[in-house]
Amino acid sequence: MACRCYSRIRCLFEAVPLRLKIMGMVVGTALLIAVLTAFQVRRAMTDEIFRQLRERSCSTALEFASRAPEYVLVNDIFGLTRLFKDAVSNRRDLRYAFMISPKGEVVAHSFSGGFPMELLSVESPNPSEEVGGAARVVTDEGVVWDCSAQVMRGMLGRVRVGISTERAQRTIDSLVRSMIFTIGVVAMAGLLFSALLTWFLTRPIAQLAQAAARIRRGDYDIHLESCSTDEIGSLVAAFNDMAVQLAEAERVRQEREALRKEYLRKIIEVQEEERRRVARELHDQVAQALVALRLDLKLIENAKDPKVLSQRIQRLRQTIAYEMEAIHELALALRPPVLDDMGLLAALEHYVKEYSARYDFSIDFLAFGLEEVRLESYIETAVYRIVQEALANIARHAQAENATIILELVDGTELRGVIHDDGQGFDVSKRGVTQMGLYGMEERVHLLGGKISIDSRPGEGTVISFSIPVGDRGGGHGEDHDSHSG
Ligand SMILES: Nc1ncnc2c1ncn2[C@@H]1O[C@H](COP(=O)(O)OP(=O)(O)OP(=O)(O)O)[C@@H](O)[C@H]1O
Ligand SMILES: [Mg+2]
Repeated sequence: MACRCYSRIRCLFEAVPLRLKIMGMVVGTALLIAVLTAFQVRRAMTDEIFRQLRERSCSTALEFASRAPEYVLVNDIFGLTRLFKDAVSNRRDLRYAFMISPKGEVVAHSFSGGFPMELLSVESPNPSEEVGGAARVVTDEGVVWDCSAQVMRGMLGRVRVGISTERAQRTIDSLVRSMIFTIGVVAMAGLLFSALLTWFLTRPIAQLAQAAARIRRGDYDIHLESCSTDEIGSLVAAFNDMAVQLAEAERVRQEREALRKEYLRKIIEVQEEERRRVARELHDQVAQALVALRLDLKLIENAKDPKVLSQRIQRLRQTIAYEMEAIHELALALRPPVLDDMGLLAALEHYVKEYSARYDFSIDFLAFGLEEVRLESYIETAVYRIVQEALANIARHAQAENATIILELVDGTELRGVIHDDGQGFDVSKRGVTQMGLYGMEERVHLLGGKISIDSRPGEGTVISFSIPVGDRGGGHGEDHDSHSG
């Protein structure tokens, strides 16, 4: 329950804009300090002034007590009353003065409209002492400090005086009012100052938020200006760096996307071309061959002479053998059956052997850990096509004398390959966007979650190395196997 309350309060607080938070904290702190200070000052002043008023009431009572006998002993009650009344009208804050006899009767007083009898019920803190101490009396005219003093050690009675706190209270109140006014002015200034400060602090943050929104919309052309070197300055610099890197990553992504589209277009084009060729070959080669076979059969049918018959059967056999070879070639070009039947190693050995017979550079093929191992069919096809393309490139562009192909199954989980030639090399950074062979290799390897690097420099040959994860193929084929062709 308490936890939910706390999280709700936290959510409410976090929903307040940063500007309001900072301004609220500055103004709130200033107000709290000001109010506490005003309260303390008011209390300290009230304590001090009231202490002085208490002392004054007692000293005035003592003064009257010392002067009262000269009137009382000659029974000059009128003179005593005059003394009290003059004192009340001349001395500021003196509210009243009166004398009571030892029997408790009022002997003389300063009141004009009759003596308020309830004053007699006010008890001094120390009635038996010469100065009875100040008692706080609440009257309809405000608080009065009432002090009594014995006249001739109490033999003639007591004098009591009342000092009003009204004027002191008014002074304190006006002081507190002017303090509150000053606090108000200071708080307003604080508010303005904190508004300015928060504007300075939050402006870069707001700019960062706007820039982040632009990046979200795919607009990376952003550079935020900031001359500050504080934390916010570093944040802005880091943001600018990030925008530059994102723009670069986006450029690379778009480039790759364009290449990918081109690659796809080319694959479809090549596929169509391949189908066209197969259709043409089927038509030209196989259909015509069948027509020729039919003619040959007709001739055999009509042949009477056994010698001629045997010659025609011999020719028929040759035609059939030739056509079988042509169909085999066609099937081989489309997809070598040995790749499906015997696996990658056998297919590549066969391919490399045929290739080196056709071209005038030597090819070394070395394979480690691949004997009797069958990888997933799509991995075998990919590696076969990579080697095919690399050899095609060497034949077309490299003018090499020697080429080396090394394949190794490492720990049964990773297939590594290196294809090297000692030809004329090329500048890797200047590959054309319409050339798809190397890009196709990279795509195949990346699609299989592997890595590939193409290293070449003019005059220094070419090295293509790749590694492809192949899952766990059992490892265990400890003894190296190598086979050579060419
Ligand atoms: N082994 C190599 N030796 C020298 N240059 C090479 C080699 N391999 C590739 N190149 C250079 O790199 C370029 C790009 O090769 P890539 O295979 O991508 O395209 P291509 O062979 O020209 O065309 P295709 O799309 O038909 O393969 C080639 O044109 C060639 O200049
Ligand atoms: Mg090529």
